[in-house]
Amino acid sequence: MTKPKKIISKTWRPDPDISKRSDFFRFERNERTTLFSEIEFNEMLSTLSPYDFVAYGELEPFYEKICEWLDIRRKNILLTSGSDAGIKAVFETYISEEDEILVSLPNYAMFSVYASMFGAKEVQHVYEKNLTLDVGSLKKKINFNTKLIIISNPGHTGTIVPENEIVTIVEEGKRNNSLVLIDEAYFHFSAETMIDFIDKFDNLIITRTFSKAFGLASLRIGLLIGCENIISELYKVKLVHEITGVAAKIGIYMLDHMQIVDRYVDAVNKGKKILYNRLENIGFEVLKSESNFVFFKVSDDLDSLELKQYLEENHILIRGPFGRLPFDDHLRVTVGDESQMNYFCDILENYQINK
Ligand SMILES: Cc1ncc(COP(=O)(O)O)c(C=O)c1O
Repeated sequence: MTKPKKIISKTWRPDPDISKRSDFFRFERNERTTLFSEIEFNEMLSTLSPYDFVAYGELEPFYEKICEWLDIRRKNILLTSGSDAGIKAVFETYISEEDEILVSLPNYAMFSVYASMFGAKEVQHVYEKNLTLDVGSLKKKINFNTKLIIISNPGHTGTIVPENEIVTIVEEGKRNNSLVLIDEAYFHFSAETMIDFIDKFDNLIITRTFSKAFGLASLRIGLLIGCENIISELYKVKLVHEITGVAAKIGIYMLDHMQIVDRYVDAVNKGKKILYNRLENIGFEVLKSESNFVFFKVSDDLDSLELKQYLEENHILIRGPFGRLPFDDHLRVTVGDESQMNYFCDILENYQINK
């Protein structure tokens, strides 16, 4: 039998997800938790025509819109099928077997999968218990073998590494010929970005996604942003059609209606306040977040798996327990709007009362 490449056969992927999520409050993947209004959805659909299904997509109008939105040049961006495909493109373009990659953890799971797929050596740097990134000790792990440094900002901790500290990491990367990938998937919930630095640093790559605050997870729209040289190399590994024409049309609609995104971010911020107050009142320790997800600590007298099961019986999906630092005893909930967060807290409260 024909054997796959060794590094592929050693790579582990989870089984297909067969869960039916539409019957649940989806608080486990940090997508948009509410639907678009009927008016918004119908308006989106009305931008499509039968032509958009039969013809390969024309993406330039979307590229133009993105350039306007980000005040950036066309040669500095590349659309990808979700930011996931953008991340994979970075590995395809730059990572060879035995290269070292330095990943801040916790992080998006596919970073480790791609490290394995491309035979890279993964060096991990775990966030501190107080959810800060110890940038000084992270920089000590950068050396001439480090090909790629990966940080999500906001991170999978919900916290932010300040811009001046990210700059020092990029500078240290530059001194060691290392690329730095800043994953800004949750940018809209914090508003800190490194986009202004792409002309200054030729080792900086930024990824963005339309899956989170834009609410288009299923349409698979991501973006790679960097200096002209980097983008021209990434361009060489792109799929013939970076994204579908349908996705591009809906992406344009969203950029023409940024108030939808703003309203959603606003709703999340209000939901977060409810969550903080009520979780604390119920007796859970909450970690403040600059993103659309919140970690809360499950006290020793409660069983987090049982609690998760109880939530599921009440049609709520959440993430965790994680079984590793810094979140070994925490659960994570994606923040929804006020009424969703009140329902979530009601169920948690019921669980507490019945214990
Ligand atoms: C930090 C981070 N980056 C990237 C992604 C991938 O997003 P997508 O491929 O939908 O753009 C996710 C998804 O959860 C994420 O949390």
